[in-house]
Amino acid sequence: MNILAISDWIDPLIYSEKLKYRMSDIDLIISCGDISVNYMDFVMSELNKPLLFVVGNHINPKNYTMSIGEKARVNIPSCFKNCHLKMHTINGVIISGFEGSVWYNGGPFQYRQWEVFFKLLALIPRLCINKLIYGKYIDIFVAHSPPFKIGDLPDPCHNGLKAFNWFIKTFKPQFFIHGHVHLLDRNAIREIQYHNTKVINCSGFYKIKIKEPKTDEVV
Ligand SMILES: [Fe+2]
Repeated sequence: MNILAISDWIDPLIYSEKLKYRMSDIDLIISCGDISVNYMDFVMSELNKPLLFVVGNHINPKNYTMSIGEKARVNIPSCFKNCHLKMHTINGVIISGFEGSVWYNGGPFQYRQWEVFFKLLALIPRLCINKLIYGKYIDIFVAHSPPFKIGDLPDPCHNGLKAFNWFIKTFKPQFFIHGHVHLLDRNAIREIQYHNTKVINCSGFYKIKIKEPKTDEVV
């Protein structure tokens, strides 16, 4: 399965009338956040493929609601599938994710390090069921923020989330994809091997190929 991951800014190679020819082999689109709904809509409509997403720390106020004492809640059309603490299976590939970034100024979709640990615990029952049924916990984890010290930056806004390091070591996804840290040089190294997982910075855009499980591999 070929995946087009997009994140952080509008890339002219993607926001183009030639997209459908350039990316004709894409089966699934994943947004790692900090891009507009209009851009997601363009890519999904042009390629006519499903789009999964997490939001980042920058989001149009029209696309979330906030009530007193509560965290922000995403308000994005349901044709786009939110990965935040949800589990999706596409062609046998199991995908989940976590939105936002580390807390740095109190804006929406910012989380303290300990909060991320607690919220990820909610995924454990489903991960264990996956392991029992399919022999694996998860294939792809989608986040906006990178893990701590794995492709992150030392400033308070771009510090990685420590709970992601624990998640990767424990549940061993094949891929952990993220944005947030802008890699403007297309020749920059985007993939970092961390334990059994490829951590990939998808800022701009990045193509990922993942092997779909054969039906007889499903336990
Ligand atoms: Fe960001």
